[in-house]
Amino acid sequence: MNVDGTHYRTIWLAADGWAVEIIDQTKLPFNFETVRLENVEDAAVAIKDMLVRGAPLIGATAAYGMALAMHADPSDVALERAYDRLLSTRPTAVNLRWALDEMTKLLQPLGANARQAAAYARAAEICDEDVDICSAIGDHGAALIKARHDETGDTVHVLTHCNAGWLATVDWGTALAPIYKAHDAGIPVHVWVDETRPRNQGASLTAWELGRHGVPLTIIADNAGGHLMQEGRVDMCIVGTDRTTASGDVCNKIGTYLKALAAHDNDVPFYVALPSPTIDWTLDDGRDIPIEERAADEVTKIQGKTESGEVITVEIVPEGANAGNPAFDVTPARMVTGLITERGVAIASKQSLAEMFPEKA
Ligand code: MRU
Repeated sequence: MNVDGTHYRTIWLAADGWAVEIIDQTKLPFNFETVRLENVEDAAVAIKDMLVRGAPLIGATAAYGMALAMHADPSDVALERAYDRLLSTRPTAVNLRWALDEMTKLLQPLGANARQAAAYARAAEICDEDVDICSAIGDHGAALIKARHDETGDTVHVLTHCNAGWLATVDWGTALAPIYKAHDAGIPVHVWVDETRPRNQGASLTAWELGRHGVPLTIIADNAGGHLMQEGRVDMCIVGTDRTTASGDVCNKIGTYLKALAAHDNDVPFYVALPSPTIDWTLDDGRDIPIEERAADEVTKIQGKTESGEVITVEIVPEGANAGNPAFDVTPARMVTGLITERGVAIASKQSLAEMFPEKA
């Protein structure tokens, strides 16, 4: 997507042809900065500290992390160490394990001197595949938005949670791709952006990227969605996912489940944009998905910009207060209207997913 007239992906190879560059998402929305990754540890820290985040981009960064590891040392020991280090960074988004398995499957049988070139080529391919997948999700999702517009003749109001836009992928996004495609096709669309406490990925990232693209948006406090749905001011919800089970249970950023409950109670369609690498075919029950517990200070502190332009972090709770920070929750398949995949919209069920991806199921 474009940033001030320049086309960016969220991850790319540096001009020297071996280091990797990313957008530092911890600096947004106030500053647009890029960071150079030179080794596997840089890639691991970028994922763990959320310079990059969002399930597909975590996978793409891990793939390039393996390539950086092979650049430094293509031995079996280095391959195994890189896999373990990268896998340890974040537990919930299954794209991380998927990308690492893809890389290992390719690299393990090769001789050490063939590994570096093969790793860079596969990492680039994983990125290109992600762009194609997200673009296709955009087309299928935009058809849903268009259908709603054809029905009402009015602006379509979409509620989204967290950031599942191009910043969370390599390009286009998952939940936001349908919105970009609909907007670009001239369909009037407006987005209710959940701020998404505690890290505010909605207020800082989703609002930033939609705004740059010229999509009308309104940031709302996380607790406002239910009320807006009761008032008939939400046409549909579209969210992303970090891991979806083979039976269609959807794990996504904490608070997604509450939106699904409100949507269910108000007959608002609740769609999940789902790239196939985000399906965990080994799990049937969403309760088996590991939920990342993040640092309490993401809850007790908040970052913002002062009137003088300084970006600072401040405490917002009584000194010494206890805080908990589960980062994801699971929405049961029965509350999901449809899974927007790159192959079309599936029902959130084992049978429908298996029919759509027979080679995986
Ligand atoms: O903790 P984050 O910011 O990595 O969480 C991101 C989300 O929950 C997204 O909704 C999800 O990864 C889908 S991204 C296309």
